[in-house]
Amino acid sequence: MPGGSPERDPVPPSRVGSMTSTDSGSTPKPPARDPWDLPDVSGLVVGVLGGTGDQGRGLAYRLARAGQKVIIGSRVAERAETAAAGLAEMGVEGVEGLDNAACARSSDVVIVAVPWEGHAKTLESLKDALAGKLVIDCVNPIGFDKKGAYAITPEEGSAAEQAVALLPESRVTAAFHHLSAVLLQDPSVERIDTDVMVLGEARADTDLVQALAARIPGMRGIFAGRLRNAHQVESLVANLISVNRRYKAHAGLRVTDI
Ligand SMILES: NC(=O)c1ccc[n+]([C@@H]2O[C@H](COP(=O)([O-])OP(=O)(O)OC[C@H]3O[C@@H](n4cnc5c(N)ncnc54)[C@H](OP(=O)(O)O)[C@@H]3O)[C@@H](O)[C@H]2O)c1
Repeated sequence: MPGGSPERDPVPPSRVGSMTSTDSGSTPKPPARDPWDLPDVSGLVVGVLGGTGDQGRGLAYRLARAGQKVIIGSRVAERAETAAAGLAEMGVEGVEGLDNAACARSSDVVIVAVPWEGHAKTLESLKDALAGKLVIDCVNPIGFDKKGAYAITPEEGSAAEQAVALLPESRVTAAFHHLSAVLLQDPSVERIDTDVMVLGEARADTDLVQALAARIPGMRGIFAGRLRNAHQVESLVANLISVNRRYKAHAGLRVTDI
């Protein structure tokens, strides 16, 4: 199980490979695949667009600390280089800083970590650079007013579906929406005990993103459906912001019974 989290509890045997025949017993079915059997992603290069911000830098730090090759992207290459140098000072080696287009071109997997306001424009400008890449959108379309945070509904349904519309030659997934950038960036935090809901259209892609999440100690990547259901996942951050304000916390999520 190369991509899985070593700390995870074993999957109960009753949930794995139990279906071997139909109800009539006449046609044997292949055993169900273990959903925790994830690919080895340790050799993939991960780019982070907007990697100079809190979320992107935090993800870059955690993935690089786990041994992943990471490239920070920025609209301005110098800012990305500075962010990469900052991570080197935090003790992680090998992080590079490039402008967003070069970051996208040089990476196998590209995390989109720019604010919602810049999402469409950023992706439009990187359509060619992102062709053929696996894109992970972690953008939460959220607004704020005097009552606090609230969900915005994009015309396309969600930020992830907007990415699909703008990037016809990329494989788009959605994940990493519910992480605390404060915890991600705190080097004294060894484990981040939370689940990452992963959405996408192709099993191979969501498996890969799940495996990437599992590189970070304490984290599990959980398949959470197709992109038509990304809006709820992106929006839930508005609730987590309320939780954090009330309890002065950095709340994450756990999906139980799996
Ligand atoms: N912060 C969190 O805890 C958290 C958690 C989960 C998900 N997210 C999501 O992750 C994304 C980034 O969050 P963040 O807090 O890191 O945001 P941020 O710090 O405001 O922005 C991230 C980076 O995006 C670039 N950027 C800023 N405005 C832009 C624009 N109009 N167009 C293109 N690029 C722009 C900037 O980099 P350059 O100037 O270097 O290009 C900036 O450093 C958001 O969509 C958010 O919903 C955040």
